[in-house]
Amino acid sequence: MQVAETSNRRPALLGLAASAVLTVLVVVGSRNLEHYDPALFGYTVASVVAFGALVYRYAVWLRRPATRVYWRRGWQLFRERRRVAKNARSAVATVARNIVEQRFIARRGFTRWLMHALIMWGCLLSAAVTFPLVFGWVHFKLEGDEGYRAYLFGFPVPNVMQGRGLLAWVTFHALDFTALMVIAGCAIAIRRRLSDRGAIALQQFMLDFVPHMLLIAVSVTGLMLTASSLWLGGYMYYFIALSHQALVIMTLFYLPFGKFFHIVQRPASVGVELYQRREREAPQAVCPRCGTEFVGQMWLDDLKEVVGRLGFDYSLGDGRTLQDFCPRCKRVMRGLAYATLPRSGAEVFYGSRAEGGHEGKG
Ligand code: HEM
Ligand code: HEM
Repeated sequence: MQVAETSNRRPALLGLAASAVLTVLVVVGSRNLEHYDPALFGYTVASVVAFGALVYRYAVWLRRPATRVYWRRGWQLFRERRRVAKNARSAVATVARNIVEQRFIARRGFTRWLMHALIMWGCLLSAAVTFPLVFGWVHFKLEGDEGYRAYLFGFPVPNVMQGRGLLAWVTFHALDFTALMVIAGCAIAIRRRLSDRGAIALQQFMLDFVPHMLLIAVSVTGLMLTASSLWLGGYMYYFIALSHQALVIMTLFYLPFGKFFHIVQRPASVGVELYQRREREAPQAVCPRCGTEFVGQMWLDDLKEVVGRLGFDYSLGDGRTLQDFCPRCKRVMRGLAYATLPRSGAEVFYGSRAEGGHEGKG
């Protein structure tokens, strides 16, 4: 029986390597720190640490037996020589449907979809603006009547924001719009969590309220910065900037270990969809008892491997395991086994660990 690996040395090394790579990219991308603002050092350190932690957690997650099988097979199926183009098309379609459009949330209701779209796009757009600025990858220079020109990695970007036009105004206030999106999305989520009986029964403070509270606090302090500089002559600006920084750092540190981990975890489902599609087309396993084709042979083999790695032993003694039988036959076999047992003790009702409970698809 194989047992899952437990040492976290490799994920820890991967995490450290990721932090080191990001540090090098900050130095190189800001042209040897020429365009780097030392006032943003706190944000940078937190981003580097959080990125390393995120990679560490992802690597640990990938070592779980079921995740590892899906991950390995997903890539293997994707790279199949004759199907690369078809697989790439289907992966793009899955990304468009599930990640961009978020159709699987839309199926739960329009308000729920709107809630998530506002939070997700608000955060992604904020990240797209803030991280390159913090890392010194993007900076702006005032160029006479032309207004501000953006520089990316030290190279001038064609000026689309001439003078003080509408586009320039919208670009400079992008974070204010994204802050409003995030606040609106979180308000919808909290409202649902305070009124939906199903949600009330299951939710936990740390997992289901803390993320929204952090995002609202980050967005409100961001808006306060704008209010301070636009209308209050910079009143309390330094204090608000410090609060914004502290809250952003807390959110970044929460990223790898809390609810927000799903941001990087969920997109891996693209591989799962590919696996499920291919599994239906591939040769099917036949139940040795009733002769029905009930599941893809590849799926069945992978299931047996995962079950073994988790430490369960379902072997039946004749070279077969319980997974070789279709779900219906498994139920029949269990019923027959119970029927022949002497009627004594709780075992009649619950069975042993090797037989019990884990009756999945296979
Ligand atoms: C920056 C990116 C993202 C952020 C900030 C974010 C944030 C959140 C938050 C705060 C919730 C909890 C909402 C609630 O209280 O019910 C949530 C739920 C959820 N997220 Fe995300 N998310 C992001 C990206 C993604 C992606 C890429 C996926 C999938 C591909 C995803 C899938 C989900 C799902 C399925 C739920 C449950 C929704 C429901 O209850 O109906 N999220 N997300
Ligand atoms: C939900 C995500 C976020 C939202 C909605 C948000 C919102 C804002 C807003 C509205 C401002 C004021 C902009 C202005 O006055 O023109 C701001 C400033 C700023 N934000 Fe954020 N922000 C977010 C996340 C982040 C992150 C992840 C970082 C860093 C990695 C960051 C770093 C900054 C910095 C450096 C400033 C300028 C503060 C200063 O002048 O010291 N923000 N943010």
